[in-house]
Amino acid sequence: MIGTGSYQPETCLTNQMLEGMVETSDEWIVQRTGIKERRIAIGKSTAEIALPAAQRALEDSGKSPEEIDLIIACTATPDSYTPSLSCVLQGKLGAKNAFAFDVIAACSGFVYAADIADSYIKCGKAKTVLVVCAEVLSRIIDYTDRSTCCIFGDGAAAAVFEAREGEEGILSTYMRSDGSKGEALLAKALPVEDPFSSDREYPSSDRFLKMDGKEVYRFTAKAVPQAIDEVIKQAGVDISEVDWIVPHQANTRIIDMVIRRYGLEREKVFVNLPYYGNTSSASVPLCLDDMRRQGLLKKGQLAIFVGFGGGLTYGSILIRI
Ligand code: UT7
Repeated sequence: MIGTGSYQPETCLTNQMLEGMVETSDEWIVQRTGIKERRIAIGKSTAEIALPAAQRALEDSGKSPEEIDLIIACTATPDSYTPSLSCVLQGKLGAKNAFAFDVIAACSGFVYAADIADSYIKCGKAKTVLVVCAEVLSRIIDYTDRSTCCIFGDGAAAAVFEAREGEEGILSTYMRSDGSKGEALLAKALPVEDPFSSDREYPSSDRFLKMDGKEVYRFTAKAVPQAIDEVIKQAGVDISEVDWIVPHQANTRIIDMVIRRYGLEREKVFVNLPYYGNTSSASVPLCLDDMRRQGLLKKGQLAIFVGFGGGLTYGSILIRI
């Protein structure tokens, strides 16, 4: 991983502002989730927030757009089905030697895409891969539904992976899905309908994200430890040797559960959730970019990145920095 970048939209939606919009309180939100504020991309498309994140990651990596072989974009909130977000970015970046496709894996998007990037690199089909995760979730959030509007935020982040000799890089990965519980986190696309009907209205209630928080929480309580256990087992590493655990930023209770289960020092688990909320696929790379910019990631360290969410999907990657 040779470069990272991110973009946080300017508009900040605080818990206090939400108190004026729905029946909630700063105390409830902080206690149940740990979130204090989130960013909202008012009037911006997903590509518009993805592009600066991608440009910053490229700049950080020292690579030119022409050197990118593959662009993988992750989003649950694309601007269009086609062209895909990755193709839009390829055009705007001028990455004319790359092929580009999107991955839909909700909050696991980054770890799924990093695993794909790693596979392309290891089998020799790509040398330099740009992974971009961007979400304008505010487009599908109902700001009268207190069970979701307090949780989700917008953001974009990207990372560049390159084939290199040496000790560093992705050591092990573990990806899983449980589609039988997919309805627990639902963001619908176009409805099933009679294409010849004169009445083809899109029901407005279907445009918003719905989450059965308790069901997702139960799934997460099993999925996250499983994902951590599997990557360390594969790499033959003990949890005590791991310097960082970077979970998808969904909820401080999940983060606390990880800390308790493995008896970790709190400082080993990176958290920026209070400032961005849950940004789905962008959450893990937003952490990664924050950590790199704060100088927290040191050469030789071991870091586990864990994604979980819609699909339901989950997965983890273990990286030697
Ligand atoms: O990114 C994908 C991964 N997603 C997750 O990991 C989410 C996992 N789930 C969670 O983090 C939690 O389930 C939530 C934070 C979403 C909700 O916490 P909870 O403890 O499961 O609350 P709940 O949904 O069971 O709701 C408890 C009560 C309900 O009231 P009643 O029915 O007990 O009277 C809700 O209506 O809290 C109420 N409530 C709220 N109250 C104030 C729900 N949202 C709010 C709110 N403010 N914003």
